[in-house]
Amino acid sequence: MSERKRVLTGDRPTGKLHLGHYVGSLLNRVRLQDQYECFFLIADLHMLTTKPSKEDIEMIDKNAREMVLDYLAVGIDPNKSVIYLQSAVHEVYELNLFFEMLVTLNRLVRLPSIKDMARAAKMDEDTIPFGLVGYPVLQAADILLPRAHLVPVGKDNLAHVEISREIARRFNRTYGEVFPIPEALIGEVPTLVGIDGKAKMSKSLNNAIFLSDPPEVVRKKVMKMYTDPKRIRADIPGTVEGNPVFIYHDIFNPNKEEVEDLKRRYREGRVGDVEVKEKLARALNEFLDPIRERRAEYAARTGYVEDVIWRGTERMREEARQTMDQVYRAMGFRNVWNRIRRKAERYQKKQAKQEATE
Ligand code: TRP
Repeated sequence: MSERKRVLTGDRPTGKLHLGHYVGSLLNRVRLQDQYECFFLIADLHMLTTKPSKEDIEMIDKNAREMVLDYLAVGIDPNKSVIYLQSAVHEVYELNLFFEMLVTLNRLVRLPSIKDMARAAKMDEDTIPFGLVGYPVLQAADILLPRAHLVPVGKDNLAHVEISREIARRFNRTYGEVFPIPEALIGEVPTLVGIDGKAKMSKSLNNAIFLSDPPEVVRKKVMKMYTDPKRIRADIPGTVEGNPVFIYHDIFNPNKEEVEDLKRRYREGRVGDVEVKEKLARALNEFLDPIRERRAEYAARTGYVEDVIWRGTERMREEARQTMDQVYRAMGFRNVWNRIRRKAERYQKKQAKQEATE
């Protein structure tokens, strides 16, 4: 049964997921579920790299719950896929340490993603923690702990998957073949523009439409969306290319004829922004309706989400123990421990005999 290749990916538990997560990675996850054995982690240890306070830790279960509700609502099926809490699978700490020896500090400190995360968390060279520099190493441990082949991620995580590949190759060359070389899988829309026109939809930039936003909130956000700024009146010809409203129409409005008609009239200055946005709001709400509905159903079953997470965590622990057994064997630690143990046992026996004859 378990001959299927494996997928691993996950998210930091910062709360609800948005449309950017959906097109960047969630949709791929749902599609891969039947073909691959899937592991989805709640990366609470990664959250710690920028939010290590006791208050942040206190929030993990609540935030993980919201996130897993989104997973289930978009169609991730816990009967097919394993959803687990990273911090509760301690083997990842062990693998992380070994991997730390297989990558240079220079390689890590030069990554733009680390600098971006530091900047976003208002850290500078003097305050950036060692653990944040190690973020991609821990991510490699996540990916390789279930010996995953495929990693569906947004574009911003590509460099980290590359580090995982380097570490896997280095481990296999140094100690023997244990790990597959994982590959990244980028969504059809690698980065979704924010409702404010900024390059990336992100919770921290406050420019996101969440999968759980109620219809009226979605509508309001759409009506405020950034469009062609040159178009101050409906009869001025507008630019469609790169216009967030049309980018969303292309992705989320299944009525292609309507979209083409709106584009044509927009270019000719024959349609108002309000009509374009009303139609987008309707399309988005039709897309989100079944997601919101399923979310509400799962949310109403007290304890269900937690049961999914806990069963997944126990399943992952089993997997993690198997991998670490291979790791300790390949690295030669098993032999070292056995030699010490055998000598210790021999000594203890001798001691016991001596004491008996005294
Ligand atoms: N780095 C991911 C993020 O941006 C979260 C993450 C942690 C992850 N470990 C992973 C993604 C392993 C893919 C694989 O939130």
